[in-house]
Amino acid sequence: DRVRLLEDILDSLDVGALVCDENYKVISANRAAREMFGSEETERSLLEFTMSNELRALAERARVSREATEEKIELSHPRSRHVIARVRPCASDRLLLALADVSELVRLERVRSDFVANVSHELRTPLASIKALAETIAEEENMERDEMNHHLHRITGEVDRLTALSNDLLTLSEAESKPSRKAQVNLSQVAREIGEQYRPQAERKGLGYSLHIEDDVVVPLDRDQIVQVLANLLSNAIRYTPEGAVSLTLSAQNGTAVLQVKDTGIGISREDLPRIFERFYRVDKARSRETGGTGLGLSIVRHIVNAHGGEVDVESAVGSGSTFTVRLPIERA
Ligand SMILES: Nc1ncnc2c1ncn2[C@@H]1O[C@H](COP(=O)(O)OP(=O)(O)OP(=O)(O)O)[C@@H](O)[C@H]1O
Ligand SMILES: [Mg+2]
Repeated sequence: DRVRLLEDILDSLDVGALVCDENYKVISANRAAREMFGSEETERSLLEFTMSNELRALAERARVSREATEEKIELSHPRSRHVIARVRPCASDRLLLALADVSELVRLERVRSDFVANVSHELRTPLASIKALAETIAEEENMERDEMNHHLHRITGEVDRLTALSNDLLTLSEAESKPSRKAQVNLSQVAREIGEQYRPQAERKGLGYSLHIEDDVVVPLDRDQIVQVLANLLSNAIRYTPEGAVSLTLSAQNGTAVLQVKDTGIGISREDLPRIFERFYRVDKARSRETGGTGLGLSIVRHIVNAHGGEVDVESAVGSGSTFTVRLPIERA
């Protein structure tokens, strides 16, 4: 009974536990270990059971040194994962192996370091331009006013870019750290207000621009955050539409508020579509540089919409335009 109880306890753990005999044969494996290696059969060598030379070597080191030994190991069988493996020699020349899966931590660490690398890169490019432009002005003593103005104009453009980047980063970090402060908000009013703010920008480009907004759609929202969502989707639609029209629609359907931003712009290819919500992802880096995008807008949109218990979808075809649809639950959660 006690043995049975101990087995139950071991099986309830998330840490994979293996016991090997003096010949490195696996004599016992808990549920987590069996799942980790996709095997129900014990009574096999540690190497056969785990297919990991590193783990086998670690076990040997522990046995020879008679000391508990620990290492971070990447397993490849049956699928790739990172574990912290601890091997402890115990009675009758046996070895106890404990394997904690840290794949998710490793993944998050990679996301974090990619993010820092991306931010550094995005900062460096405009800073290098500003420095080069400033040096050109400094070096040429008799520069024509026109030429000087041209350089100054470009410096201003790069500074605007840096400002936009830092604003986006701030919004993203606020959206991620603060829980959204939801209150019953009349989304119809917000959509009209932000929709009208973008009208001049669309009309300057000669685009058709229309709002189709159902009255009094009231949704539990963080108003500031939903303004960000609308602003990002509308600015994208206008930015990526050289000619044609942009429209914003809001309606309530079966307990869901449905916001739609539709454009007849350049569209997004099937390969790029799944990636556009990633941080810093831009379909056309060169072109996006000209138009000033940093690739954070849609990651902010998705983050905020998900934090509201909603979803954002996109349908698009290259050359004929894109439709972004945001669905938000109207009922208080
Ligand atoms: N309406 C759209 N039509 C075509 N492509 C789009 C549209 N919206 C987004 N994209 C593509 O998705 C990419 C990511 O969009 P996102 O809003 O995240 O970044 P951005 O607009 O480049 O920069 P910003 O951070 O200033 O918003 C864009 O660079 C663009 O290639
Ligand atoms: Mg954008």
